Amino acid sequence: MNPVKQEPRATSAETQRGTRDTLSVTDNRTGKTYELPITHATIRALDLRQIKVDPKEFGMMSYDPAYGNTACCTSKIAFIDGDAGILRYRGYAIEDLAEKSTYLETAYLILYGELPTAKQLEAWTYHVTHHTFIHESIKKFLDGFHYDAHPMGMLISTIAALSTFYPDAKDIFNEESRRKQTWRLIGKMPTLAAFAYRHTLGMPYSYPDNELSYPGNFLNMLFKTTELKYRPNPTLERALDVLFILHADHEQNCSTNAMRCVGSSHVDPFSAAAAATAALYGPLHGGANEEVLRMLMEIGSVAHVPEFIKKVKKGEGKLMGFGHRVYKNYDPRARIIKHIADQVFEVMGKSPLLEIALECERIALEDEYFVSRKLYPNVDFYTGLIYQSMGFPMTMFPVLFAIPRTSGWIAQWEEMLLDPEQKIARPRQVYLGSEKRAYQPIEQRKPARP
Ligand code: ACO
Repeated sequence: MNPVKQEPRATSAETQRGTRDTLSVTDNRTGKTYELPITHATIRALDLRQIKVDPKEFGMMSYDPAYGNTACCTSKIAFIDGDAGILRYRGYAIEDLAEKSTYLETAYLILYGELPTAKQLEAWTYHVTHHTFIHESIKKFLDGFHYDAHPMGMLISTIAALSTFYPDAKDIFNEESRRKQTWRLIGKMPTLAAFAYRHTLGMPYSYPDNELSYPGNFLNMLFKTTELKYRPNPTLERALDVLFILHADHEQNCSTNAMRCVGSSHVDPFSAAAAATAALYGPLHGGANEEVLRMLMEIGSVAHVPEFIKKVKKGEGKLMGFGHRVYKNYDPRARIIKHIADQVFEVMGKSPLLEIALECERIALEDEYFVSRKLYPNVDFYTGLIYQSMGFPMTMFPVLFAIPRTSGWIAQWEEMLLDPEQKIARPRQVYLGSEKRAYQPIEQRKPARP
């Protein structure tokens, strides 16, 4: 291939500017120069494939473990500027949505691109609310779990099980079917989560109450005991709704990537959402809020904070709830959450761990180790304290993240399905293993490791 002939033609805008939207790459092995088109400040990895020394070669790839600098899709859903600490859903600032919107309204925005009109919101709320019940057989699976089973394990399994109840969900290119699975997933997530919680307590399941709001009904299914009608505390109901808004989407994070990757095999959305929930379970992702509380309890008192920070700086553990792959500034969600924490503590009483958290933050924000690495509190640093104060056990924290993130997962899954450029996700590798070798009979083998 002659790279000179490959030069893209200049557009009229480029001619006017006197520059070209291309990147010239010179391969010093051959002296050849290649001109690669730049779109949205990005080059296409496949354009590197033409770069080779020998025409028989596979061609050049880019190596990017953990996708540190690789865009795997185009998206119109969430925008993050990690250096400026900005998060927007469909162009709307997270601060505005947290102040003025509800979770269901935000979920609609994330899924369908615009805030709903009053009529659209009414229909949307009706449909989600009328899909909150789960098949009675799911209660039987839950009964099979040990009393101390982690609720995330129960949640992952029961989301996957939903696919067996709704075989129509396999019809993924049917818009009507996708809409229905969306109502089902968003409607049933709080029910599965609450039932998992009640199972761990050995308490009877509390059924959905269609008269309550989305977060209000969730609180009802979690905490209702003998009262005929559960009435959620409005401050806690609103706090939970705002926390749900803050967690609704966050572009290409680990669990969203799992949703897109698994969904790219064209499996049904319940199976893909189970995979996304499994990804969220890990302590480096949605499991971090649980780890923050464990860390604060381990620190034990404000006086022990400097010693703990010293250990972190020596590499003996991490300051959980700090740092983020994208935010290199204060996570804007953490700022809003700090404010909600005050409101919740006013109703429920202050968490004894709050002082320890504040002291960790104070020291870390001044300490050269954290400052130079741009480590700031992330969304998980204060959520655990709020959830604990609201009466949730630590094991429920990642579950409280999975419920609202479902709207983001479905929106991202649908965007992937309808994107004509997307195919089954299939990364490349750089093989560094053995060259071809002769098969060894067992008696000639030497142990490779003890
Ligand atoms: N405490 C102490 N040091 C840290 C922390 C931390 N929380 N986070 C990062 N560092 C250090 C690393 O050791 C590394 O130091 P080095 O350059 O001397 O080797 C440097 O900061 C860069 O860190 P990386 O691990 O390269 O950053 P990466 O982008 O890969 O990781 C992550 C981001 C996973 C969030 C990381 O900061 C972390 O583990 N934080 C704690 C877990 C956590 O709070 N996760 C929740 C994330 S938010 C979410 O998922 C919703």
